[in-house]
Amino acid sequence: MSNSTEMQSNPIKAGWESPSNIALIKYWGKHGKQLPRNSSVSFTLSTAATRTFVTIKDENTTGKVELDFIFNGKENQAFSTRVEKFLNSICDEYFTFLKKYSIHIDTSNSFPHSSGIASSASGMSALALCLCDIENQLNDKTNFDENFYLKASEVSRLGSGSACRSIYPEVAVWGQHEDIPGSSDEYAIGIRHQIHPVFKSFHDDILIISAGEKSVSSTAGHNLMEGNPFAPVRYQQANQRMKLLITALKQGNISDFGKIAEDEAMTLHALMMCSDPSYILMEEGTLSVIRKIKQFREQTSIPVFFTLDAGPNVHVLYPDEVESQVNAFIQNELKPYCNEGRIIRDKVGTGPEKIS
Ligand code: PMV
Repeated sequence: MSNSTEMQSNPIKAGWESPSNIALIKYWGKHGKQLPRNSSVSFTLSTAATRTFVTIKDENTTGKVELDFIFNGKENQAFSTRVEKFLNSICDEYFTFLKKYSIHIDTSNSFPHSSGIASSASGMSALALCLCDIENQLNDKTNFDENFYLKASEVSRLGSGSACRSIYPEVAVWGQHEDIPGSSDEYAIGIRHQIHPVFKSFHDDILIISAGEKSVSSTAGHNLMEGNPFAPVRYQQANQRMKLLITALKQGNISDFGKIAEDEAMTLHALMMCSDPSYILMEEGTLSVIRKIKQFREQTSIPVFFTLDAGPNVHVLYPDEVESQVNAFIQNELKPYCNEGRIIRDKVGTGPEKIS
């Protein structure tokens, strides 16, 4: 469809909803074009998601990307600039149509923008899926095969590293690892078929301890790993923990899973504290909640664990069978530490969906 008159009367549109993900083994440290220093594994979530529609319309002769960008129903200059830069960086290698037509993007999050929840994983993966979908339509292809998802994952990675894992249902691995055939630094792969059923209905309740902007961005944090004297040993440790966690995920070993997830959260924040300059992203409430979760687990033997991403909010992880007890504990003991009592009740999810 190269005729511009035809394109004006027939814009091409794609819509995808894509979820966020929570890393269990953390990606922290990168090199080259968003390549990870170690492999990582995550749960794909369900509630925290981004819906994006991309439309390509009139012919564009400017020689660069012509973008019109709407976020949550309004113009947003900061996001628009970031997305435009990203599209310009990928168009020559991945999607030449981006420079040939004017691009309209309409995107919105299912969770409040100011909730302190990172939207880059869901946002970049939804955008990448739309771009691959438009490419399919331009090539008269109708199927979403393995290569479609691999490309969407690779393109997501270039937008925001961890976004590449959101492409797959339930559990995804990013980064080459000897125990995971097919794993790659360039894109993530789904490993749901290897996972014990108990993890497929796992809960992740996200306690919003602070909704504020982070004082140090993830990009700056990754860069600080380059000068961190503990970095080499950290990458070895991540590799070793991947082995242990993948085994626990396969066997349905919840206590090993929980221990490794918590150790990873503590390591991530310890790495921040021993960067130069050092910094702290946890808040007082983060520490109080962590202590309460450990205490509750010791007293009740109920399998409930925590993890953190690069921020103060706490992800509370637990199997479906203890939902009512854990929910009562969260409401009574942890909610007071949350900003305006905010909690996003999320779960392991089935991955992105095309919006028809
Ligand atoms: O994808 P980025 O650059 O926002 O980095 C994400 C880093 C962590 O969330 C802390 C870990 C991870 O693997 O998702």
